[in-house]
Amino acid sequence: MSTRKKIVAGNWKMNKTFSEGTALAEEITGKLEAGDVTVILGTPYIHLQAVGAIIKDHPNLFLAAQNCHQAAGGAYTGEISPAMLQSLGVQYVILGHSERRKYFGETDASVSEKVSIALAHDLLPIVCVGEELSVREAGKHEALVGEQIENALFDLSPEDFGKIVIAYEPVWAIGTGLTASPDQAQEMHGFIRNTLAAKYGDEIAQATTILYGGSCKPANAQSLFSQPDVDGGLIGGASLKADDFIAITNSY
Ligand code: 13P
Repeated sequence: MSTRKKIVAGNWKMNKTFSEGTALAEEITGKLEAGDVTVILGTPYIHLQAVGAIIKDHPNLFLAAQNCHQAAGGAYTGEISPAMLQSLGVQYVILGHSERRKYFGETDASVSEKVSIALAHDLLPIVCVGEELSVREAGKHEALVGEQIENALFDLSPEDFGKIVIAYEPVWAIGTGLTASPDQAQEMHGFIRNTLAAKYGDEIAQATTILYGGSCKPANAQSLFSQPDVDGGLIGGASLKADDFIAITNSY
């Protein structure tokens, strides 16, 4: 049994009004039993402070933002800096989500900048990687994911790299109802871990939490999380319902 941190993180994306979001956080906080899974709520920015206050006494619940800007501050209208997140007590930040890459022009280079500044503000990055269907069909998915990881993360010191969580989210499985099979997930997670071992050594690779994301739900979470290199999930749609989300956290 690995000693890696097990994580189930919800990514609420652009869902829930303020009152709906606080109600969801209250329901999750009330129903989630203490255990050895780190459970993260990735809320829209406007919910962070209130949700942080709701979850603060639960031993397993933590807070994530879904993005941050790569500059320390300044004239970037509409953006949020890592220092602002830090000042609210946010612990994690999701970076490089495929929706950010697709709709907001994020690249491996901007993800790399964001990872560095997030770490400098004591935020733990959850860095998303994953291929489009056409890339998988061309048999190039491992090459692409390897490149995304190398470009975004391999300038980090071993000490900083030790703080990173990686989320493998095949783009074709996000919000589509299609899920990577447990074998497909394991194959990619094993590849990612080997890639990390080649760069940072076996000890760091074995200690890195690698999450699966893409139509993960109560019905399939257990078969995915039982794979040796799958250390939990990054959950979109199913994180918006307390009972589904909690069922997923109970799937180990
Ligand atoms: P779904 O679980 O809705 O497919 O979303 C996955 C995801 O993008 C989590 O970041």
